[in-house]
Amino acid sequence: MSAIYQWWRSLRLKFVSTLALALAICFTVVACGGGASTSSSGGGGGTTVAGISPEVVVDYIHKVAESDRTAYTKHVIGRLTKLEGKDNKKGVVTAEATEFWKQEKGVPLPAQMFRMGAELASEDGNFTIGLISPWNINDNQAPKDDFEKAGMAKVVETAEPYKAAREIAGKKYYSAIYPDIAVADACVSCHNDHPVHKERHADKVFKKGDVMGGVVINLPLKGA
Ligand code: HEC
Repeated sequence: MSAIYQWWRSLRLKFVSTLALALAICFTVVACGGGASTSSSGGGGGTTVAGISPEVVVDYIHKVAESDRTAYTKHVIGRLTKLEGKDNKKGVVTAEATEFWKQEKGVPLPAQMFRMGAELASEDGNFTIGLISPWNINDNQAPKDDFEKAGMAKVVETAEPYKAAREIAGKKYYSAIYPDIAVADACVSCHNDHPVHKERHADKVFKKGDVMGGVVINLPLKGA
């Protein structure tokens, strides 16, 4: 083999492997970059937010909000000696959880704590999260539009989340209603004993594990 031929062969090999590497890099950049920035619409609310489907995003938001509230109810509220004027037999910390926590030097109710967090989380306009119930104590928390009414009824019936893409005031959203479950004794005792609940829904006596309402999340869809 001549020296020239050998030189040519090694040059060609180098060229081919460099080309292969360049192609691989190019392909990776296109694949990753494309995935992260794509905002495509499809059936069943297929629009992506940073490459994650809205169905998964609402699940994540809900998981964090629900876990925080459960922890607050079990490990803070459940330890207080008074819940909305009633003695809590299991209470070990002398304090009361009450709607009028500011005026009465008490501690906010789980629903109020949830709302304060929800307001902060919604400040930048990315999504909204709220509580509703067919047996609402707070007038603002009844199921409102058709989506909430139909969805809440379905969630009470199935105890499963209800999800759909929808329009609110001409803008596209992916919305979900998750069952709000009586996870702690305090949820049940406080609601069943509440004067407004007794007056409006005397026939509804919650038990632990029941669906007490729903957590509604509205996620705006990009480019909508
Ligand atoms: C110490 C009393 C108390 C406890 C404990 C409590 N709640 Fe409530 N909850 C209320 C009151 C009062 C409201 C209405 C006031 C408000 O939202 O400002 C409310 C609101 C709600 C709402 C919104 C609908 C409505 O009734 O207005 C849901 C759903 C709800 N609670 C579910 C739960 C669940 C689930 C738990 C347990 C994890 C729980 N609550 C624990 C007193 C309580």
